Amino acid sequence: MTSNARFAPGRIQFGGDWNPEQWPAAIRAEDVELMQRAGVTMATLGVFSWGELEPEPGRFEFDGMDDAIDRLHAAGIAVDLATPTASPPIWLHRAHPEILPVSRTGQRYEQGGRLGWCPSSPVFREAALGVVDAIAHRYGAHPAVRLWHLGNEFGGGNRRCYCDVSAAAFSRWLADRYGAIEALNAAWGTAFWGHRYRAFDEVEPPRDSETVGLGNPGLVLDFDRFSSWALLQHAIAERDVVRRHSPGIPITTNSMVGVGPHVVDYAGWAREFDLVANDHYVTAADPHREADVAYAADRTRGLDPSRPWLLMETAAGAVSWQRVNRPPEPGAMRRTAMTHIARGADGVMFFQWRQSIAGAEQFHSAVVPHAGAGSRTFREVEALGAELALLAPVAGTLVDPARIAILVDDESGWAWDSGPKPVWHRSIATEAARWHRLLGAAGHRVDVLPVSADLGMVDVVLVPALFLMSATTAGSLATVVARGGTVVVSSLSGIVDETNTVVPGGYPGFLRDLLGIRVIEHVPLLADDAVALGSGAVVDGWAELLEAPSDGGAEVVDRYAQGGTCAIVAGHPAVTARDVGAGRAWYCSASLDDPGLLALLQRVLEHAGVPADGVQGLDVVRRAGGGRAFRFAINHGAAPVELPIGGTDLLTGDRHQTTTTVPPGGVVVIEETA
Ligand code: GLA
Repeated sequence: MTSNARFAPGRIQFGGDWNPEQWPAAIRAEDVELMQRAGVTMATLGVFSWGELEPEPGRFEFDGMDDAIDRLHAAGIAVDLATPTASPPIWLHRAHPEILPVSRTGQRYEQGGRLGWCPSSPVFREAALGVVDAIAHRYGAHPAVRLWHLGNEFGGGNRRCYCDVSAAAFSRWLADRYGAIEALNAAWGTAFWGHRYRAFDEVEPPRDSETVGLGNPGLVLDFDRFSSWALLQHAIAERDVVRRHSPGIPITTNSMVGVGPHVVDYAGWAREFDLVANDHYVTAADPHREADVAYAADRTRGLDPSRPWLLMETAAGAVSWQRVNRPPEPGAMRRTAMTHIARGADGVMFFQWRQSIAGAEQFHSAVVPHAGAGSRTFREVEALGAELALLAPVAGTLVDPARIAILVDDESGWAWDSGPKPVWHRSIATEAARWHRLLGAAGHRVDVLPVSADLGMVDVVLVPALFLMSATTAGSLATVVARGGTVVVSSLSGIVDETNTVVPGGYPGFLRDLLGIRVIEHVPLLADDAVALGSGAVVDGWAELLEAPSDGGAEVVDRYAQGGTCAIVAGHPAVTARDVGAGRAWYCSASLDDPGLLALLQRVLEHAGVPADGVQGLDVVRRAGGGRAFRFAINHGAAPVELPIGGTDLLTGDRHQTTTTVPPGGVVVIEETA
């Protein structure tokens, strides 16, 4: 559970990971001067410092950390102090190689990487909590420490461990979940291939070898759930040690929210910490990179829309882990940062402050690059710092909820990835991001919410490819429609239940009555198939043979056109809608190309009375709170765009009467006139 500790510093945080252990005293001094010059408010310390802090078992050397914290404190910079457990020291791996995770194929990982630990290992747990205890004891009451940062990107390297210790922990977790082995046999359908278990300790993780081949989807999904849970137990154990020594100081951990599915169930994790923090890096080669930043930020906020979150890491320049690491164009890093702030982040932090000259990430950019502070990158970050200081009034405000929400679920993504499917090459996780992007470009703000979210205020709920759906989620969709709202369900939604078992009787299982339809057959298309709808929309890879019986109450909105290459669906219903009082439940059985999908969604929104209220060519988001409201407008284009809103631009201090011009590549933050 979260504590009452709230991260509310009254300004937008700005800084990054500082790794002074890599540098001599002169550079450390220069770093702090540069931080002050740039207006840094907070630095993350110690993320990978275990080997430095505890050079031998039980012997701690705190001089370096004391020096770093004191320097920052003297400079008025807050410390976000990490527990250093993401990267165990070499001595621990030498003494206890059994803590290293084991891969699906039975290979034990080697020392030399990071996240080299099994989440279920009691040996690792004891050693990790030892160093956490020592650090929290020493610095828990230090006035510079304003935030705790547990580990680093849990699961990014040790998402699943298949060792015997994990296997035993998995058996115990299953016994807790199912109570009786027959319940597990029923849930997983172990009658298939005659794989009935007699006891929980007969279950093994879904290990892979040439002889095993395909795993049971129920087993595979439960192992993913267990793996997320096992990592969370470790994070909670660290959290509780820190809280004991440092009451009142908020505790977070940095997530990796993006298009997904994620390595752990972040919606569940968010409930355990005082603040949601995210790491996000732009993919240079992604033609939709700006839209993907917006999607990730909306998705991060959706984990807990009731409080601001923190962008814990992004890159000031290029990363070093993509195939071609092209740096951002001038101004692009600023727009990325502002996209996160606009969507509810109360801070922008960079990995890392000074670019390493050695080690695995020596070519990853940093605020202070190899070339030093006399560089474009440093100047851009410094300018951003000055602007973030001007945005202090925005801190603590919340993003206006959108009228439209997309439902997402990591477990659903895990279920899709858990075994053979009608199409193997298709990633369903990207659908939600695509819908978000198309609607965003058409001037609609769209929230991204986990299935557990409260949908009470949402007018239109979009359900793109939500493969796994519980009866509870189906029930909340029915409630949305019953109260006059609109639901749009796409193909590949509601196929399996929480046990990864198909809900029989025609897809989409629990939603057939709500939608008034029944899918008889999945019809994935071949690359050279040419299929269109009557409306002209192009079908891109996926069709279904669909029945809309007259007693189901659904009207056929669009059909598969005659004359395509797939006679199975030709002339049959493709898109349907069913009215329930003032509510409406749509179903789209075909995967449509971008123009076709956008046209359908616009038709849905027009019918629901939800007009686009954005401005063509601008990304506009409003944050409000404490009687003040701020409109962020970001222009990723090459021409100026008029924002039809007046007020004071926090970034320039200029007052605009009724409209504000947003320059090409520019950003404005207009405080609305009360
Ligand atoms: C992650 C990690 C950092 C660093 C960056 C590089 O976000 O948390 O330690 O490796 O990636 O992009």
